[in-house]
Amino acid sequence: MLERNKIRLLSYERIENHLPYLKTLNSMQFKQILISGILIAMIASLSACYYDSEEFLYGVTTQECDTITVVTYSAHVSSILQKNCYACHSQGSNLGNLLLDSYTTARNAANNGSMMGSVNHKAGYSPMPQGAPKLSSCDIQSLQAWLDDGTPNN
Ligand code: HEC
Repeated sequence: MLERNKIRLLSYERIENHLPYLKTLNSMQFKQILISGILIAMIASLSACYYDSEEFLYGVTTQECDTITVVTYSAHVSSILQKNCYACHSQGSNLGNLLLDSYTTARNAANNGSMMGSVNHKAGYSPMPQGAPKLSSCDIQSLQAWLDDGTPNN
């Protein structure tokens, strides 16, 4: 339907019949206008593509995250937590009375919603990691993927 309308619109004769001022242009001038319009639309859609890219939106390249096929507790989750959370949430510090340094404690924090709530800086949760920048989008996605998978001990 949309395609058909487009073709109808682009038909030179039809436009000329409906818009008398176009008759003052010769067919060459009209074609030039049409071609520049198409070029502008193409450039606009190309740049829209660029700004929609994941890198621009999330500050992380797809490649960076694409290397992870299956998120595992041992390879990904525990290292994200170790790097960003153990300083305060492991034996010895245990700030906020919360441990994240074992599979069971991390799973509990993931399953009760507090882990994703805090790393996503959601309202109602203390933003984590405290006093540090938000986790990278890839790290957040990895934690979420692990949760979506059912927090396996893999
Ligand atoms: C510099 C210390 C510090 C770091 C690093 C840190 N936290 Fe915390 N966290 C705290 C303190 C202190 C509390 C308790 C006070 C509070 O809730 O603000 C807390 C509380 C929490 C809570 C409970 C908050 C709630 O609203 O239910 C969660 C969940 C949490 N942290 C997760 C994390 C995760 C996940 C990381 C790593 C990505 C992390 N924290 C890194 C200090 C830290």
